[in-house]
Amino acid sequence: MSKENKRVSEAVIRRMPKYYRYLKEMKASGIKRISSRELSKKMGLTASQIRQDFNCFGGFGQQGYGYNVEELCDEIQKILGLHKEYNMIVIGAGNLGQALANYSGFEQEGFNIKALFDINPRLVGISIRGIPILDIDHIEGFLSQCEVHIAAICTPKKTAQEMVDRLIECGVKAIWNFAPIDVNAPDDVVVENVHLSDTLYTISLRMNEDYN
Ligand code: NAI
Repeated sequence: MSKENKRVSEAVIRRMPKYYRYLKEMKASGIKRISSRELSKKMGLTASQIRQDFNCFGGFGQQGYGYNVEELCDEIQKILGLHKEYNMIVIGAGNLGQALANYSGFEQEGFNIKALFDINPRLVGISIRGIPILDIDHIEGFLSQCEVHIAAICTPKKTAQEMVDRLIECGVKAIWNFAPIDVNAPDDVVVENVHLSDTLYTISLRMNEDYN
């Protein structure tokens, strides 16, 4: 992404993964071209919204009839940085940490989980799909040996911020937080707080839209 793209709005950034998901699916099913109108229908956006979004990144000019699906997909993949490989660690190897490690889909997109860390001696020493669970006390040593780009936080809420601070101190620049608090970090650290229950609450709200 060029410097000027750093000013791309949060809303556009949030839509980019969705474009990629749709385009990847279309590419896999052999669709060669798509107009912004067709894409808008599929994605539930307006065609002008799609053109505006793409203009933020230089436009991906439509030649003749619509976009070349493969080219557009590859361009968006690059914008998302998915043409690179990333080393990840997971802090907290309980239900959620182990579920992340058990999912092979992340490494297919270049996100490689190198280790999980836990305080529970009964978990330390075992492996999930060949990925070791290490003692959290060894985190600093591990980070000094292995370049880690992203840390997933799957610990209880009360230790999450403390773990984040410790990781940042060791140079980790991206936090994928699943603990049910919004963790704080300096501006040069990327933080995504993932709260599945928020989406469940949204479902509940929609089911109760008369606001009784
Ligand atoms: P869990 O209790 O199965 O696992 C937590 C693990 O963290 C345990 O193995 C524990 O030993 C370990 N741990 C505790 N303190 C630690 C520390 N300082 N360093 C390293 N490891 C430590 O819990 P579960 O179900 O896996 O949930 C993990 C977290 O994810 C919780 O905060 C939970 O609320 C949250 N969660 C969030 C969801 C979301 O949508 N974001 C969905 C499900 C869970």
